[in-house]
Amino acid sequence: MKAVLIPGDGIGKEIAESVIEINEALNTGIEWEVFQAGAEYHSSSGDLMEKGLLERINELGVALKGPTATPIGSGFRSINVYLRQAFSTYANLRPVHSIAGVPSRYENVDLVIVRENTEDLYKGIEYMYDSRTAHGIKLISEEASERIARFAFEYALKQGRKKVTAVHKANIMKLTDGLFLNTFRKVAAEYPMIESSDVIIDALCMKLVTDPTQFDVLVAPNLYGDIISDLCAGLVGGLGFAPSANIGENVTIYEAVHGSAPDIAGQDKANPTALLLSYAMLLKDHGMIDQAKKLEQAVYSVVEEGIYTTCDIGGTAGTKVFTQAVKEKL
Ligand code: NAI
Repeated sequence: MKAVLIPGDGIGKEIAESVIEINEALNTGIEWEVFQAGAEYHSSSGDLMEKGLLERINELGVALKGPTATPIGSGFRSINVYLRQAFSTYANLRPVHSIAGVPSRYENVDLVIVRENTEDLYKGIEYMYDSRTAHGIKLISEEASERIARFAFEYALKQGRKKVTAVHKANIMKLTDGLFLNTFRKVAAEYPMIESSDVIIDALCMKLVTDPTQFDVLVAPNLYGDIISDLCAGLVGGLGFAPSANIGENVTIYEAVHGSAPDIAGQDKANPTALLLSYAMLLKDHGMIDQAKKLEQAVYSVVEEGIYTTCDIGGTAGTKVFTQAVKEKL
């Protein structure tokens, strides 16, 4: 099969190179169509992405994406948000679990964040009300709330998960988060075999840092989902270990949760695990279960042995040496 590969900015090229090598070693038959996109491409060409990228994602339906940088406070809008809205990849699936050998506060975390990916404050509807006041619109629709709640329950059913918890702040944002929560409750009633509950976002943060094992599947509007994803990544050893998939009806874009890590870019220091695990999600979704499991086991055993680990978890190996170690395990 063919799939689009976007290396992206910063550490993106280094970790994409790791995936290219592992893909060859696994002999999956996946042929990458590589497209440039992001801030670096923008500064060299004036465009945000190479021509033909959107068409090919649309035609092939699958892409693996490295991180792309977004200027803060001004400049162009996020390519990630653009792609998610353009292809209506409405569900951002972010599994979080402890990995043996990765230093972290907890050892038995196993939860999944299902983040609504197309609306909320990420819709980008902002304007200056007057010269000293900015307005941003939080857009929550019943349609998108129902779609994401249904996705979470269907996912729980298929994966044998027991509980789905909705994340909100409906005590304060009674209309927007209220709609999200009420829609969730209606959908939950259709799935009596799955336990359902809800939690206010601030209380959730406290509960996550004190006992993350009490959660199973968390379904959240866009902004809360984004924030708790990094928090949860921190619970299991950091952003280097957090994969994700942006799932729509016709297109899925797999990517690491982390960004372009400009502080370590170009230094052979990046941990490619998050992108490798995102690629493993891609393999599973396309029937290559054995290769995906082989890859996961190889990554986990290199990490557990602790000889060739990257500096984010206290190791000294570079991206290339880590990749080589994974390859040898394969
Ligand atoms: P970041 O995730 O790039 O980095 C945060 C910290 O984690 C840094 O210290 C970095 O070195 C470390 N880190 C991240 N990934 C790592 C890895 N694979 N291995 C080792 N260490 C790693 O977040 P930051 O600095 O806030 O954002 C940088 C840029 O990335 C921004 O322009 C932002 O907009 C963009 N970004 C893009 C995302 C995407 O394309 N999906 C997601 C998040 C941020």
